Amino acid sequence: MNRHLLSIADLSKEEAISLLDTAAELARVTETPVKKLPTLRGRTIVNLFFEDSTRTRISFEAAAKRLSADVINFSVKGSSLSKGESLKDTALTLQAMGADGVVIRHPASGAAHRLASQKWMSGSVINAGDGTHEHPTQALLDAFTIRENLKERSGDLMGLNVAIVGDVLHSRVARSNVLLLQKLGAKVTLIAPPTLLPVAVNSWGCNVKYDFDSDLNSFDVVMMLRVQRERMEDAFFPSEREYARRYGLNAARLAQLNSRCIVMHPGPMNRGLEISADSADSDKSVIVDQVKNGVAVRMAALYLLLGGE
Ligand code: CP
Repeated sequence: MNRHLLSIADLSKEEAISLLDTAAELARVTETPVKKLPTLRGRTIVNLFFEDSTRTRISFEAAAKRLSADVINFSVKGSSLSKGESLKDTALTLQAMGADGVVIRHPASGAAHRLASQKWMSGSVINAGDGTHEHPTQALLDAFTIRENLKERSGDLMGLNVAIVGDVLHSRVARSNVLLLQKLGAKVTLIAPPTLLPVAVNSWGCNVKYDFDSDLNSFDVVMMLRVQRERMEDAFFPSEREYARRYGLNAARLAQLNSRCIVMHPGPMNRGLEISADSADSDKSVIVDQVKNGVAVRMAALYLLLGGE
């Protein structure tokens, strides 16, 4: 495995499966009363968050602590970043403090690559979401959750039919998932209004549909995406009501899904917009499992990047 995890493209199929298998082993360990492993004792992980986060930041912190690493949480609010300090000077500061790994979330696409490629610091860099580009550990925890529910916790995702629905244009989760799901053999269909699809979507190798209602029962997984209002400078759909009617997962659509289909959402959810409360809380929903699995998957990423084989 590379020293950094910046994109799903950094992983071969075998490496991705190995990471999921490692996460499964680590999940078993964390279910024991002790919960902790000494693997990263003496190592320092810095969580460097330039954008808000609940799930990713907390689960990286829990993952690092369960591997016995020292964790420093660093957010824009309350740091010299808010005074205009550059990414380079921040990285040099982290290097001086002896950071062995940096988990970075940044609003600019490519920020994690820049941190890794400039050699400002010697530690591993993990991309925890960069702009609209990628969120590789989210895709890995999603694949882990799909595998756990539909593939008896092993191997690839060959033969599964996955729908990714909603604001694909602004979604780093969608980009990382398309890369990983296809790498693992799943068939991916993107369902969105034309205004919320990237211009180059035809080069992604997925099916693309504008209609959420056709063939709903053919999917094994329906992954809903958050409508990212904070990244929208224009009107991308006529109204929220219209969006929910055409692209929201509601009780009527939920009833049409096949019996084994699971419902996913990376969070945070806009309940009532892209997903109704009864869909989010239904017995098909694995949304809480996704959050839980995030800890084991991030433990696996830290373990493989920093702890050796
Ligand atoms: N899915 C996800 O990245 O959530 P957070 O923004 O809360 O980290």
